[in-house]
Amino acid sequence: MNQQALLDRAERYLPGASLGMLHLPPDLRMVIVRGQGSRIYDAAGNEYLDYMLGSGPLILGHCHPEVVAAVQRQAALGSTYFALNEPAIALAEMIVENVPCGEAIRFQTTGSEATFSALRIARAFTGRDKILKFEGGWHGGHDIGQLSGAPSNPSPFPTAAPDCDGIPDGVQGDVLVAPFNDLATTASILERHHRELAAVIVEPLQRSLKPEPGFLEGLRQVTRKHGIVLIFDEIVTGFRVAWGGAQERYGVVPDMACYGKVIGGGYPLSAVVGKKELLQLADPRQKGQGGYCFLSGTLTGNPVSCAAGKATLEVLQQPGTFERLHALGQRLREGLVQVGRDAAVPLQVLGDGPVMQVFFSEHLPIRNHRDTLHADKKKAVVFAHELIRRGVYCTPGGKLYLSLAHSEVDLDRTIEIAADAVSCTPASIPDA
Ligand SMILES: Cc1ncc(COP(=O)(O)O)c(C=O)c1O
Repeated sequence: MNQQALLDRAERYLPGASLGMLHLPPDLRMVIVRGQGSRIYDAAGNEYLDYMLGSGPLILGHCHPEVVAAVQRQAALGSTYFALNEPAIALAEMIVENVPCGEAIRFQTTGSEATFSALRIARAFTGRDKILKFEGGWHGGHDIGQLSGAPSNPSPFPTAAPDCDGIPDGVQGDVLVAPFNDLATTASILERHHRELAAVIVEPLQRSLKPEPGFLEGLRQVTRKHGIVLIFDEIVTGFRVAWGGAQERYGVVPDMACYGKVIGGGYPLSAVVGKKELLQLADPRQKGQGGYCFLSGTLTGNPVSCAAGKATLEVLQQPGTFERLHALGQRLREGLVQVGRDAAVPLQVLGDGPVMQVFFSEHLPIRNHRDTLHADKKKAVVFAHELIRRGVYCTPGGKLYLSLAHSEVDLDRTIEIAADAVSCTPASIPDA
C-alpha cells in the first residue's frame, strides 16, 4: 500500500484530504493502517505512540482482545436489526445501574446526537426554548454545539457567537453563554433569564479545565431552584475520570448526562441517561398523545457497538483500573511539566487523570476559556507537530488521552521525546 498514492486519492475526493476537522502539515500527512495496544501504524510503515486514541473512545487501547472477541461474536450474529437486542439491554442496565443520575437511557449513535437529543428533551419537558452553555465548552457538530465553542474574539456574555458559517440567527438567539468557573456571573444570567431557560449544559471537566470547588454545586442549586434541567456532557469524562464519571469524581449529580466515546469501545455509540420523568418523553407509545419527544435513529442501540461497549466496561470495572489511569496521568503530567522547567518555557499541563492538554502560558491560573486565550496556541500546535514527527501521535492542539494499554515505558519514552520536541519548538511562532 503506497501512502503517497492513498494521500493523492484522498486529496482528490475528500475536502482538505481529511475525514473531519483533523489536518496536519504536508510532511505529517498519513494514512493509518493498523492499531495495536498503545500504538498505531501508517501506510509508510511508521509506528506512533497513540495519545489520540480515536479522539478518546479507546480507553483500553487498540484491539483489546475482549473487545475484538465481543465484536466478532456479535458480527457473526448480525450487524444491526433496528430492534431490541441483548447487547443493548445488557449495556443499558450496566450504564443505568452505575451512573449516579441513571434511571433510564436512550442510546444514540454520536456524541453530537446525544447532546442535541438531551437538549430537545429538556425543551419538551420544560416547555421553554433557551439553553445556557459555557464559553469554550464543546458539545458537538449541531447548530447549538457550534456556538461559542472556541471563540478567539469572544462576545460579551451572554451573547453567543457562531464558530462556523451556516448557523441560523434563530438558534443563536436561543443560546445564552456564560463563563465557566464563574458562578456569580452564571447565576446572575440564570436569575435574569430563568423563565425562558430549558437547560444548562456543561462539560463538568470543560475540555481540560477542572471545575473549581463549588462551581458545579452552585449550578445544581440554581438550576434546581428554577426548574431548569441540568445536563452534564460526559462524552469525554464518562467512565474515564472515574467509574461513575465526573458525577462521581466531582460529587454533583445532574438531571441528565450524555455519554459517547468510551461507552462504544471504539464503535459508534452514544447515550442520553437521566431521570425517568425526562427520558420517558422518548417513549414511542406517547406519540400523538402529547408529551412525546423523538429520539431514534437507524443505528440506535446497534448490537455490535453495544457488545463492544459492554466488553469495554467489563474490563474497566475490574479493580484498580481507574487508580492506574490516574497514576499514568500523573506520571506523564509531571514528566511534561519537568520538560518545560528544564527548557525554561512556561509549559502547563491541565486536565484530570487520563485527559490532559499542554498550554504554553505564563498566565495563572487558567480557569476558563478567556484565560486560555493568553496561551501561545501556535506554539502548542508546533510542539504537537514536533511530537508527531518523532512518533508521538496527539491532537494538533496538544491534547492527550491515556489508555490502560500505555505502559510506564511508553510514558518515559514520550517524556524524552517531548524534551527533544520542546527544544525544536521556536520561542515565538511567526504568523502563517
Ligand atoms: C464533550 C463532547 N461533547 C460532544 C462531542 C461530540 O461527539 P461526537 O464527535 O461523537 O459527535 C464531543 C466530541 O469530541 C465532546 O468531546
